[in-house]
Parts: sequence; C-alpha cells; structure tokens
Amino acid sequence: MSSADPPSPAAGAPLPPPPPDPSGPVIGGIRLRSPFTLAPMAGVADRPYRRICVEQGAAMTTSELASAAALARRGRHTRELVRRDPAQEEGVPFCIQLFGKLPEEFADSARFCASELGADMIDLNFACPSRKVVRSGHGAALLKTPELCLKIAEAAVKAAGVPVTVKTRPGFAPGDPDGPLVLSLAPALADLGVQALTLHPRWATQAFGGEADWSLVERLAKILPIPVIGSGDVDSPGLAMRRLRESGAAAVMLGRATRGRPWLFAECLALWRGLPPPETSRETIFGAASRHARLLEAERGRRAVFVLRSVLSWYIRDLRNAAAFRRRICASEDISEQIEILREALLGGGGDAAEAEEGNASGDPCDA
Ligand SMILES: Cc1cc2nc3c(=O)[nH]c(=O)nc-3n(C[C@H](O)[C@H](O)[C@H](O)COP(=O)(O)O)c2cc1C
Repeated sequence: MSSADPPSPAAGAPLPPPPPDPSGPVIGGIRLRSPFTLAPMAGVADRPYRRICVEQGAAMTTSELASAAALARRGRHTRELVRRDPAQEEGVPFCIQLFGKLPEEFADSARFCASELGADMIDLNFACPSRKVVRSGHGAALLKTPELCLKIAEAAVKAAGVPVTVKTRPGFAPGDPDGPLVLSLAPALADLGVQALTLHPRWATQAFGGEADWSLVERLAKILPIPVIGSGDVDSPGLAMRRLRESGAAAVMLGRATRGRPWLFAECLALWRGLPPPETSRETIFGAASRHARLLEAERGRRAVFVLRSVLSWYIRDLRNAAAFRRRICASEDISEQIEILREALLGGGGDAAEAEEGNASGDPCDA
C-alpha cells in the first residue's frame, strides 16, 4: 500500500461507529468544526502548511512556537513568525503558541497576540523537550516547577481576553511516586480558567521515543472538566476515530502523519461523518503538493527552493523510485523545475506507487 492509495480505514480492529452527534468540541465558547486539529510543529507547520491542512478540513491550527519574551519586546521576526494567515477561515480558530518562563511576559504577549495578531486562542507550551528550550528553563522544563506553571497560566488567562489552552507532557521524567504530574497539574490549570489541555503522552525525557501512552489521555479526560486533546502517533482515520472513542478525548491532533499527506484530515472527516473516504489519486497528490510549493514561493520567494527539497520529498516518499526523484528535486535551484520533477514522479508514469524504499521515510531528504 502507498500514500497514493487511500489507506483502508478498516485495517486492523473493527472501527467504532461515528459519534451520534458529529459536532466538534467547544473550547472556551469556540466550537470547532470537527475533532481533528493540526498539531503545532515548529519549522514545519508554517502558514502555507497550515493553509493546505485547513483546506483539507483541519478544525484548528497553531502557530509555530513563539518566544513570549520576544513578543513582549514586539520583536519583528517573531511577530512575522506568528502572523495569522489572512486566508484562514473565520470558523477555523487560529492559536498562537507561546514559550518562556516569566508570567509577566506570557501575560503581555498573550494580550498582544489576541489584540494585535489575530489569535483566537493562546496556547502555553509546557511540552517542548528540545535541549535548547529546556536548558533555558522553558517548554517541558516548566514541569519541574508546577507552581510556576500555575503562575504563568493565571497571568495569561487574566490578560489574554481570548481562551487560553495548555499543551503538555505527562511530566518531565517518569518515576514520581505520586504518578504523572499532569494528573494533578491539569485540574489546577482548569481551576485557573485554562479552557483546554492537549496531552502528548510521552515524558519529556522520551522526546519522540517509544509509543504515546493514550491511557494517560483517557485518565485525564475522565477527571478534567475541560476538553482534553490527545496528540501522538495518530496516522490513519481509523486510528483517529479509535483514539477519540477509546480515550474520551474531545479532539485528536494530527502531526507528523500530515507531512505530505494533508488529505488525512479529509479522510478523518469522512469517517467521522460516516461517509466513504475521499479518493486520493496521483492527481490529488500532485495538486496538493504543487499548490503547497506555490504557496511557499508566495511567502518566501526564491528561498522556498530550499524548504521545498524536504516538502516535496514528503509527497513522493512512497513511490518505489522516490530516492532518484528526491535527488533531482534536491539538486534543483528552481521552483518550477522542482514542480516539473514532481509531476514526472507522480504523473509521468515513472514513479511506481508501491512500497516505500527502505530508509527513505525520514531524515534529511537529500541524504539518500
Ligand atoms: C518537527 C516537529 C516540531 C514540533 N514542534 C512543536 C511545537 O512547536 N510545539 C508543540 O507543542 N509541539 C510540537 N511538536 C509536537 C507535536 O505537536 C505533536 O505533539 C507530536 O509530534 C506527536 O504527535 P504526532 O505523532 O501526531 O506527530 C513538534 C513535533 C514535530 C515532529
């Protein structure tokens, strides 16, 4: 099977039936059009990426990770990073995600993002495990000082004027005799007025290793009075539905699986509504990928050629001879030429959509 064919949602265990009332969750008074949202992915889910996913049905998007300190200084680069896509539809909330460690900076930047930058919601990052972020006491490092998490949330909720949400991990590291920190921290955050909590159920020390432990999402959904969003390892419509049903989460975030496969949202939506999955032909893939390329070009000009080396490689990674096409895309210095290579790969009869080659699925696309 390849990404050129719609995955069979029925693969694996039997599918749960669609929910009786297919309406999306409500976060702080804002109703989402479905329970399938795009995960924040710094360096990946930029404006063009988010636009493509919204067009395919994503119910909410989040900005790239933004420094609360930089926004408190009104830094030009960070303001540009988190600027709302003017084409993002009214009914699809846009969230700006902040990282930092000083409550007053979170408060000021939350207010600024909501009033000046078009954020419908503010998300506080207590989740990022990257060494650089953690070393500065930001992201998941905040889970080492839960009192500070509460002060940050309280300050942001008071200042934002829009719903404030939190994205977090179960805790910094396993081994706490009281169990995962999030089970005590999250109710306290809800008491302070946080309107939804997203859990990526891997310890920060795990980063992306091992499997996401969805039993923690389930435990959290049982005890929290606010919507819980689960994030981790969902890569098919069948699994998205199963995670929703079995964990009791209000929504599921789709992250890595949407790279080169934004129509995963359309497939999830169809299943959720009890409709047959949409057809994903080679033409559909080429259409989405070339549009993605042109949106990136409109945003970044000729510099898009470098980003497109990975972006276009995602769309063809399941072709049998992906490596050869990828090398050509990576060697090209011209966006139109890159799109032509893509056309040849997908529509020219050269790229046999079959099993992915060993070792192609990740990493630097130009390594192969
Ligand atoms: C490249 C990349 C960048 C990410 N950046 C962020 C981020 O800025 N903020 C955040 O909360 N999570 C971030 N994440 C984590 C995702 O939002 C998500 O929780 C995680 O990837 C698990 O979901 P998945 O298995 O569907 O990808 C990132 C993940 C990836 C792969």
